[in-house]
Amino acid sequence: MSCLISRLALLAPVALSLIQPAGALPKARDAPTIPQYVIDYAPLVWLHSQDPYRPSDLQQQLDHTTAQVKWKEVDGAPSPLTLDNLDKLNDIGNTSVYLTSHEGIDISPEPDWFHGITPTAQGVTEKGTGSAIIVVDHGKGDVDAFYFYFYAYNKGNTVLGMEFGDHMGDWEHNMIRFSSGSPQAIWYSQHASGQAFTYDAAEKKGKRPYAYSGNGTHANYAIAGKHDHTIPGVNLPDGPLVDYSDRGLLWDPTANAYTYTYDPATAKFAAGKPDTPVGWLNFNGQWGDDQPPNEPSIFGQAKYVAGPNGPKFKHLDRKEVCPSSPCVVLPFRIWAEKNSTA
Ligand SMILES: *[C@@H]1O[C@H](CO)[C@@H](O)[C@H](O)[C@H]1NC(C)=O
Ligand SMILES: *[C@@H]1O[C@H](CO)[C@@H](O)[C@H](O)[C@H]1NC(C)=O
Repeated sequence: MSCLISRLALLAPVALSLIQPAGALPKARDAPTIPQYVIDYAPLVWLHSQDPYRPSDLQQQLDHTTAQVKWKEVDGAPSPLTLDNLDKLNDIGNTSVYLTSHEGIDISPEPDWFHGITPTAQGVTEKGTGSAIIVVDHGKGDVDAFYFYFYAYNKGNTVLGMEFGDHMGDWEHNMIRFSSGSPQAIWYSQHASGQAFTYDAAEKKGKRPYAYSGNGTHANYAIAGKHDHTIPGVNLPDGPLVDYSDRGLLWDPTANAYTYTYDPATAKFAAGKPDTPVGWLNFNGQWGDDQPPNEPSIFGQAKYVAGPNGPKFKHLDRKEVCPSSPCVVLPFRIWAEKNSTA
């Protein structure tokens, strides 16, 4: 039954809205075309207690940036840039376009907009949308739900008193793989890689897995504590390159999310509701400033680095729950006990 309803949800939103009782309507503001279980099982994100860089409104990023290629404003860019027209930049610069902050990245004091929106006690970012849920239906009941989180600013790690990897614009995500409406496994993005766990292994509130957002970097972890990520995808309790996470502020990314479906056959996104902007998802450029010219670097690591590209480049059409192979799906949360008593 739940499977049937979810099929209908993808195929016939109108029919669904007729048969679904009002009380069962999803919380996300425009979820009618995505299955209810994608919302029911959605992760909850613990933001770090001391992290000044909170989830951030997508349109706000466009309001505070200019489309540049090699540090020069691109000619013919739509003005103003909106989430509907952002993909127009693909014709004038494509992947070389950087949404470059008006104030620059190396600025003190930092403008308020770097700091995003602090969620309410209910976990809602009331004044903006810093999350997008993208549902990919592979048929036969196999559905991948991507939960994307956006932060205006990424503060890198400090190693031996030196700061590395600060950048404007930060995209992170979880992905939950469902089989006939039942969650199987979950992916946590961390820097260039991440970790996968069985759904059963994830720490949860009711049905909803927790993701712990690293202080400043927003890498997503399955457990609170210290995470050394010197070896990509391997989470060690200590080391030279450490992310910190704790139970600071709980963010419910479904509460104010844009929702979409993505068709891997046509590589097309569709909005969950007619007034949800789609163009930004097709944007091939970068969501932050380019790496400053002549930025000093030590062992190839610089303080300020280029901003990232968006959700379409995060392997939405995956074979496994990880974006690449080999994919190890851990059946337990390694280091959990060690960290929670630390
Ligand atoms: C978290 O980051 C902020 C600044 O970005 C810093 O002041 C604070 O000390 C950090 N906390 C931990 C535990 O690393
Ligand atoms: C623009 O970038 C996309 C993504 O990398 C690429 O597939 C496409 O071929 C590029 N278009 C042009 C005209 O270079």
